[in-house]
Amino acid sequence: MTKRHFLSLMDLSRDELKTLLSRGIELKKMQHAGEIFEPLKNKVLAMIFDKSSTRTRVSFETGMAQFGGHAVFLSPRDTQLGRGEPIEDTARVISSMVDAIMVRTFSHESLETLAEYSSVPVINGLTDFVHPCQLLADMQCYIEHRGSIEGRTVTYIGDGNNMCHSYINAARQLDFKLNVACPKGYEPDAELIKLAGDCVSITDDPVAASENSDLLVTDVWASMGQEEEQKIREKAFANFQINEKLMKHANSDALFMHCLPAHRGEEVSAGVIDGPQSVVWDEAENRLHAQKALLEFLMA
Ligand code: CP
Ligand code: NVA
Repeated sequence: MTKRHFLSLMDLSRDELKTLLSRGIELKKMQHAGEIFEPLKNKVLAMIFDKSSTRTRVSFETGMAQFGGHAVFLSPRDTQLGRGEPIEDTARVISSMVDAIMVRTFSHESLETLAEYSSVPVINGLTDFVHPCQLLADMQCYIEHRGSIEGRTVTYIGDGNNMCHSYINAARQLDFKLNVACPKGYEPDAELIKLAGDCVSITDDPVAASENSDLLVTDVWASMGQEEEQKIREKAFANFQINEKLMKHANSDALFMHCLPAHRGEEVSAGVIDGPQSVVWDEAENRLHAQKALLEFLMA
């Protein structure tokens, strides 16, 4: 099989994405039943983290262990990447030894460069542009709770950031309607909006965006790397909190998701994230199962 990368949800065909989501559900059942399944015995995943992580690191490392393989954690603090070794050289060297590389970094272009010079599959574990692994988990979670997401309405409230961009890509791939509500000046990438056509609409009115919605989603107001904008963003996003009042505008059986880490009292109220419509813990657990499906697809 030729080498495939997973830098964005658009790297998969629609059929491949749907198959992957079903496989994640299946692998979860197998794991919960205690079934040993080791399709990646002796395979190694290198994990490069330029940013902090709890879920991404634990899910990839655990997934590789459960599959009979191994994961190597690399941070710029202890590798030559942090001392200026070029990405191209790093990609050539690491890919000559391991079977796949997962990268969490700032610039999406750096990730693309790494993928270009890698001889093994490269997985995007989050860039400033997109967070596709999170969407595998989110979509699996929706399907498990409510069935197919096709034709449903999803509302993303908050920053037009990496999570928002991946929701836009998911809407394109899985045929749901996406309403994005964000303050002026914090809209998602214009090119991505254009590519999405009719399936995405942008507004600065969270109430209107939430009407008839089946799933409400948000993310932090200041992403990693934007810490110094925290105060300005708190002002800009003050009316964009998902709270009990806003949830009432969505359908009565609407779900709430958040990729985590969350800031209760900012983008979401404690009552919503810890309330009955929230599925954030299932969503987080699914990082493990959904990414195992991805690792199997790319590496087995
Ligand atoms: N949602 C997510 O990617 O979490 P981490 O930053 O903890 O990996
Ligand atoms: N938008 C957030 C997502 C964290 C998982 C960030 O980039 O920090």
